[in-house]
Amino acid sequence: MKVRKLAYSLGAEVTDLDLREPQSDAIINEIREAWLEHLVLCFPRQDLSPDELVAFTARFGKLDDDRAGSLWNLPDHPKVNIIANKPVEIGAKTIVPVIADKWHTDLSFALRPSSATWLNAKQLPPIGGDTMFASMYAAYDALSPSMQGFIGGLEGMHDVSMSPDWGRYTPEIQARRRGTHPPVVHPVVRTHPESGRKGIFAGGFLRKLIGFTEQESRPIIDLLNTHATDYPFVYRHKWSKDDLLMWDNRCTMHNAVQDYDRTQLRLLHRATLLAEKSGRYYEAENASSAPASMS
Ligand code: SIN
Repeated sequence: MKVRKLAYSLGAEVTDLDLREPQSDAIINEIREAWLEHLVLCFPRQDLSPDELVAFTARFGKLDDDRAGSLWNLPDHPKVNIIANKPVEIGAKTIVPVIADKWHTDLSFALRPSSATWLNAKQLPPIGGDTMFASMYAAYDALSPSMQGFIGGLEGMHDVSMSPDWGRYTPEIQARRRGTHPPVVHPVVRTHPESGRKGIFAGGFLRKLIGFTEQESRPIIDLLNTHATDYPFVYRHKWSKDDLLMWDNRCTMHNAVQDYDRTQLRLLHRATLLAEKSGRYYEAENASSAPASMS
C-alpha cells in the first residue's frame, strides 16, 4: 500500500489496496500504524457492501452495534449505520437523517466514545458536502503551558441533547436518546491510550465544566472549540463517491459542512469501533454549578 500525506496536521491517502478482499495481518498492522500517525485516512475507490465494510472494520477491534437504538442501522446489518441528510426508506424502516454540522467527536456523550469511525461514500451531491477534521494533538500542543495547566485539571459534562440534530428529533426520539445516553463526564485533556500524546477533548456535546456554572463554562468551552479548529489544525475532505474514510476520534474532531444543495441526497455508510472507557456518569452538582435545565 502507498501512503501520501494530505495536510499539515492530519490526513493521508492510502492507495494500492482493494478492501473488498481479505487483508493480511501485516497490511492491517500497516493501516493501523498509518491511522495512528495521520489520524484520518482516505482509501479512494472502495465500493464496499455492508458485509465487506463489517469484515474489514472488525479487523481493528470490537465494532459498536446498536447503541443508537436502531435509529440509523441498516435493518439486516446492526453494525452499519446510514448517514443521510434526508429520510431514507429501507423496506419498512425509515432511517432518520443525520446532519452533523457542528465540531464534535463521535459519541463523546457516551462512557465509551468511538475510537475509530469509517464512512464510505455511496451518494454525494454534485458539489460540496465536505467533512472537516481537526487534530486535537496539534491544538493541545499549540496552547501555552499556562493554558495547558489550567485545562489539564478540568472535566466536562457531555450531553447528547447538544446534538446539532436535536431540534429535528421527535419527542419520542429525544426521550429514547436521553434514556440510552445519560450525561457523562470526561477529562478536557485526554491522553491517547496508544500514542501517549495529549489532546483536547471538547466539541459540540460539551455542555459545561464540572465545578463551574453553565454561564462560566460557556466562554471557556467556546475558546477551546474555536482554538482547536483553527486552520493549521484542520484537514478538509472533499468527498468522491466510494471514498472510505477512517479516523481516530480519540485525537480529532470533525464537522460535516452543509455547503451543498440540501435537496440532493448525501448518503454514507458508517461503522464505528468502541473505544476504551474514559468517562463516568454525571452526578448533579450543587445548585449554583448545575446546568439550568437540570437544577
Ligand atoms: C459524522 O459525524 O459521523 C458524520 C460526518 C459526515 O456526515 O460527514
